[in-house]
Amino acid sequence: MDLEKLKQEFEKDLSLIKEKKDLENIRIKYLGRKSDLSLFFESLKNLPVEEKKEKAKKAQSLREFIFESIRKKETLFKETHKEEILDISQPGILKETGHFHPLTLVLNEIIEVFQKLGFEVVEGPEIETEYYNFDALRIPKEHPARDMWDTLWLKSKVKSQKSKLLLRTHTSPMQIRYMETHQPPFRIIVPGKTFRHEATDLSHDIQFHQVEGLMVSKDTSFSNFKSIVEDFLKVIFKNEVNIRFRPSYFPFVTPGVEVDIKLKSKENKWLEVMGAGMVHPQLYEIVGYKEKGLQGFAFGLGVERIAMIKYKINDIRLFTSSDIRFLKQF
Ligand code: PHE
Repeated sequence: MDLEKLKQEFEKDLSLIKEKKDLENIRIKYLGRKSDLSLFFESLKNLPVEEKKEKAKKAQSLREFIFESIRKKETLFKETHKEEILDISQPGILKETGHFHPLTLVLNEIIEVFQKLGFEVVEGPEIETEYYNFDALRIPKEHPARDMWDTLWLKSKVKSQKSKLLLRTHTSPMQIRYMETHQPPFRIIVPGKTFRHEATDLSHDIQFHQVEGLMVSKDTSFSNFKSIVEDFLKVIFKNEVNIRFRPSYFPFVTPGVEVDIKLKSKENKWLEVMGAGMVHPQLYEIVGYKEKGLQGFAFGLGVERIAMIKYKINDIRLFTSSDIRFLKQF
């Protein structure tokens, strides 16, 4: 058999191949068990040793050549195929990135505004004692004001626990905790989660956020409070807001007010966004201040309320719903 002819035939066949899958046919034709080359090896069996050696050597190098050529062509196919799918003019696939929850966005904004006004940010425990949540704030057991906060009480495992445990119903207990350990003058805000045991609806949830504010010195006045709150609300709502102060009652302030806002752009109702007032002088005694003539204001801001007005959200429960269609909008 003419190995040289076989080689030429193979090279011709290989050059005609257009698709990768046809390579397999060539492989079978030239290297398979029934290929000419295999038959040639077969036929060498009965030849004298010297002749056998020489012919086998030539056939073997042809076999290696065929094998290598097929392999090379295969790699070539793979590479050109790769180029086909890499279209560098195609726009990239945008990866979805994470982002902040709307409440976090609003909370960060609130914190930033107050920090610029010199307020320090402190935090307090979500599990409180009856003392800090109620008694120290002048809300004794039999006081009707306790009805304002439907409380989630906790069972304590510690028998000696003097004051019952609860999930704080507001951030005001931090007024007491902070004053117990700090001397005026100071100005702080306390952002945090609060809990109430009540039926949920569009504007009530069992869990929500407040930002408590407390500023005490020898001469902090109600007009200081008014201007700070007005500045704050104007920044948050980009000046598009009407503000109203309404007399109200909280046992730990006197006088007490509620602050309502209404967006200028729309014909809508007044909405309450915070309770506030001048710190009740008895609180200074309760925390053990010796200094006389202290004056201060406190407020409790509803974070969800602010976010709902700002982003036009009509159901407070959406914040905790984990509904991705809702969250994607921020
Ligand atoms: N803690 C009150 C509430 O949750 C709000 C408040 C805070 C009122 C500070 C006065 C002063 O309703």
